Amino acid sequence: MPFLESAEMTHAPRIAVLVSGRGSNLQALLDAEARGELGCSIAVVISDVPDAGGLDRAKDAGTPSRVVRWSDHANRDSFTTAICDVADEFSVDGLVLAGFMRILAPEAIDRFPNRIINIHPSLLPSFPGAHAVPQALAYGVALTGVTVHFVDREVDHGPIIAQESVPVEAGDDEVTLHRRIQQVEHRLLPEVVAAFAAGELDVDGRNVVWKRGGRAS
Ligand code: GRF
Repeated sequence: MPFLESAEMTHAPRIAVLVSGRGSNLQALLDAEARGELGCSIAVVISDVPDAGGLDRAKDAGTPSRVVRWSDHANRDSFTTAICDVADEFSVDGLVLAGFMRILAPEAIDRFPNRIINIHPSLLPSFPGAHAVPQALAYGVALTGVTVHFVDREVDHGPIIAQESVPVEAGDDEVTLHRRIQQVEHRLLPEVVAAFAAGELDVDGRNVVWKRGGRAS
């Protein structure tokens, strides 16, 4: 089913971006928004880490932000409810996980079905989890890359929206390889979010179809 049917839309699309760290992908989204290329507004940035660099980027862009600390919650369910409540407070249509290092409980998928996007630094289903870049290097793959996907109830598993490969080069270490992966991320994530906001993504089981002949993943 499409992400956003025009009949559902009574306002310009709004998203929440969730971060835990540096926020370079958030910056790519903020820059695309500033250029008028995102097709939606970043209504709020939510971080689970009080000193995440992403919060400074939101402030610099004049974008509201909120901190939802993991340690303030008894369990994942309560943490997830708090995140979703902030998203609702800002009337967002979807969530973008841009380096958000916590796993959300099923409630988030129920409240935002096919409306949560995650970016992952490998070609899923290879190397899910928090250590994808060093694991790809240690495994000796010749190609790794970037996956942007909808979030479902399993970790790094939902329907793939877009993938792009990044070759592993001789002498690569985690820093050099991740740097080249991030160059792709910063281009791919805004492109996917713009398509998502425009209602151009149809989800059919595990398959995501780009309407109007868009990118094939
Ligand atoms: C990215 O490589 C993303 O794929 C992964 O976490 C990293 C976040 O980087 N999920 P940044 O905070 O956006 O710079």
